Amino acid sequence: MAHIPNDARNQQLYLKRVPHGTAGPDDFEVREIAVPEPGDGQVLVEAHYLSVDAALRLIMQDSDDFLFRVKPGDLVRGSAASRVIESNNPAFAEGDWVTGSMGVQNYSVMEAEELEKCDPDAAPLPTWLGGMGVSGLTAYFAVLEECKPGPGTTFLVNGAAGAVGSIAGQIARIQGAKVIGVTGSDEKCKWLTEELGFDVAINYKTADLYDAMLEAAPDRIDAIFDNVGGPILNESLRLIGMKGTVLLCGATSQYTEEEVTGPSNYIWLGTMRARMQGFVVYDFAEKFEEARAQMAEWVKSGKLVMRDNMIDGDVADYPAIFQQLYEGTDLGKMLVKLPAAD
Ligand SMILES: NC(=O)c1ccc[n+]([C@@H]2O[C@H](COP(=O)([O-])OP(=O)(O)OC[C@H]3O[C@@H](n4cnc5c(N)ncnc54)[C@H](OP(=O)(O)O)[C@@H]3O)[C@@H](O)[C@H]2O)c1
Repeated sequence: MAHIPNDARNQQLYLKRVPHGTAGPDDFEVREIAVPEPGDGQVLVEAHYLSVDAALRLIMQDSDDFLFRVKPGDLVRGSAASRVIESNNPAFAEGDWVTGSMGVQNYSVMEAEELEKCDPDAAPLPTWLGGMGVSGLTAYFAVLEECKPGPGTTFLVNGAAGAVGSIAGQIARIQGAKVIGVTGSDEKCKWLTEELGFDVAINYKTADLYDAMLEAAPDRIDAIFDNVGGPILNESLRLIGMKGTVLLCGATSQYTEEEVTGPSNYIWLGTMRARMQGFVVYDFAEKFEEARAQMAEWVKSGKLVMRDNMIDGDVADYPAIFQQLYEGTDLGKMLVKLPAAD
């Protein structure tokens, strides 16, 4: 086995119990095993960056309703950007950089079809988990294929300073729409308007949300890009415009709740002939390369900012960092930089 120390061990994160409220370190346990050996056709990878995703909290719920569920005793799911250490598959060579759903651990044995190669010259390796990964691709397709913003339209994004929301708002702005972002701190609002070019940013923790949205969108809203659900979605719905689109990207505020609450203001959809649209990024997998090429061009020309919020740590630090994601202190995409990346 090349390029790993003889005493290397694989730390893995397991779910210990079903979390209640925001998941915390006591809900997880770390186990340590020997670095696994790849079998025929398999590839051994070493993780350098771990993605921290709000949706993990949803799939740890005590319910079989959710795909990819993580149950107590399961390895915690998560994507990583990793280096190929040993390959028994001709499609991958030692030293290749790859992403995939490798779980929260330092080393994993993967099937070739579970891996996607990434080119660190086109974008830094961590960005392949954020802007060039699921977060950016979600924003790209949900905005362009479903919301279809353009000049003269108004676009509102909830969860605006997060990994998906920050890119969604910028893409709507590139398309010429007026962009309003809703987020949870003045610092985030400042970032959205001063660095990302949002027209208006609203701090939902301090503003009278409906009044602030009405002031920003007196002629109503053509597309609501919703990442959070709950009361923020509900207030937004009162302002949906004629034939508007409410894009249901995620519902972060509901993932920690024992019972999900639906929005009573859905009645505005009827009057306004508007629609609520579900969305799953993987439906667009055939067009991922096209989207990455376009986003890379926007990044190069300065029109699009992809921000990674990188936190140094190891597998054992993941639960505390995940908890921090829900505390809302981060801007952009949250990632763990593992010791292997130093
Ligand atoms: N449909 C798809 O294919 C797809 C793909 C990827 C992600 N998603 C979904 O998209 C959403 C955004 O994902 P992301 O990775 O970009 O996450 P994210 O927005 O970066 O998540 C963290 C942020 O969520 C906000 N938040 C936390 N608790 C909240 C609450 N109770 N109410 C309102 N906001 C809260 C905080 O921001 P504030 O400071 O603004 O509160 C926090 O900084 C998630 O719901 C995810 O599941 C969907």
